[in-house]
Amino acid sequence: MPLHIIRQDITKLECDAIVNAANNTLLGGGGVDGAIHKAAGGKLLEECKTLDGCDTGDAKITKAYNLPCKHVIHTVGPIWRGGENGEKKLLESCYKKSLALAKENGCESVAFPLISSGVYGYPKDKALSVAVETISEFLFDNEMTVYIVVFDKASYQISEELFDDVQEYIDDNYVDEKEERRLYNRPRRIFSSECDFEVGSVCFEEKLASPKKLDVSLIDMLANIDDNFAVTLLKLIDLKGITDVECYKKANVSKQTWYKIMNEKDYKPSKNTVISFAIALELSLEETKHLLSTVGFTLSKSNKFDIIIEYFLLNEEYNIFTINETLFKFDQVCLGV
Ligand code: APR
Repeated sequence: MPLHIIRQDITKLECDAIVNAANNTLLGGGGVDGAIHKAAGGKLLEECKTLDGCDTGDAKITKAYNLPCKHVIHTVGPIWRGGENGEKKLLESCYKKSLALAKENGCESVAFPLISSGVYGYPKDKALSVAVETISEFLFDNEMTVYIVVFDKASYQISEELFDDVQEYIDDNYVDEKEERRLYNRPRRIFSSECDFEVGSVCFEEKLASPKKLDVSLIDMLANIDDNFAVTLLKLIDLKGITDVECYKKANVSKQTWYKIMNEKDYKPSKNTVISFAIALELSLEETKHLLSTVGFTLSKSNKFDIIIEYFLLNEEYNIFTINETLFKFDQVCLGV
């Protein structure tokens, strides 16, 4: 997965570079700056003294010394002054300049703290959105694994409204394991005239629940059981009029995984990967279930991850980073591989 949101102490990460939320002097401070200098040892400060400071929105790179990573990229975020003083542009610049430096120095993996969201007072949910948007834009054109490191879960926020909405949906739809078995034991409807679509001899419950017209051409194509997942995926990509690269980038799936799906005959994608592609292709809930069924998966009412995915599909919210921020908030695995 090219973009991960993780909860960690950034000084412990063994990636190629970690980013420091520094101040203009580059001579250390508190927060993550203090933690990085402490873990790196005195030589980091000695090297920083040779850099002649750093402008807000800019970035400079040093060695990592006693840290487990290879480089430290120091960037200076804006101090939050209400949001009308160019803070967003400066914060975007921190991520762009840091990613450019990482690329120039051959880094394949980089970890960012939430820049400016501590002492500098940038609201955490806004700081996270800027980070996710700017990094995912970079990842559309570049191969790199990027981590957004959220230090303390409590400080991690998605918008309250989205959180409440998803929580309510989970409460309404989540059933525990034994209840799920009871639901599934009831006799499934055999095809009848009021269903305007059949796959095999069963009419899908979703059709009964919400008599929304299924996209028969798409479902019809998916129902061709001879197609394996890769063939089905390529047909869907053509049908949606996007390129292969656009599809796997939007799905937050690495190029390596894409090549495996397309070239290794027996490769079986994970449920997470299948759903990531369904989101990238902006499939409906029913279409997603059909795509999952081509590799033997389904969505379950007793799985919180599945319920959250169902919420986003029904609300036609296909921004994988918004979905991942929400999954992260509910302690679920993020989408993409
Ligand atoms: N690992 C990961 N993230 C961390 C860690 C850590 N060890 N320590 C703190 N953080 C998080 C904070 O929770 C916050 O979300 O880093 C984010 C950035 O907070 P700050 O470190 O306060 O940085 P910032 O808000 O950009 O303020 C920079 O603070 O420390 C001084 O010298 C620094 O003057 C500069 C100012």
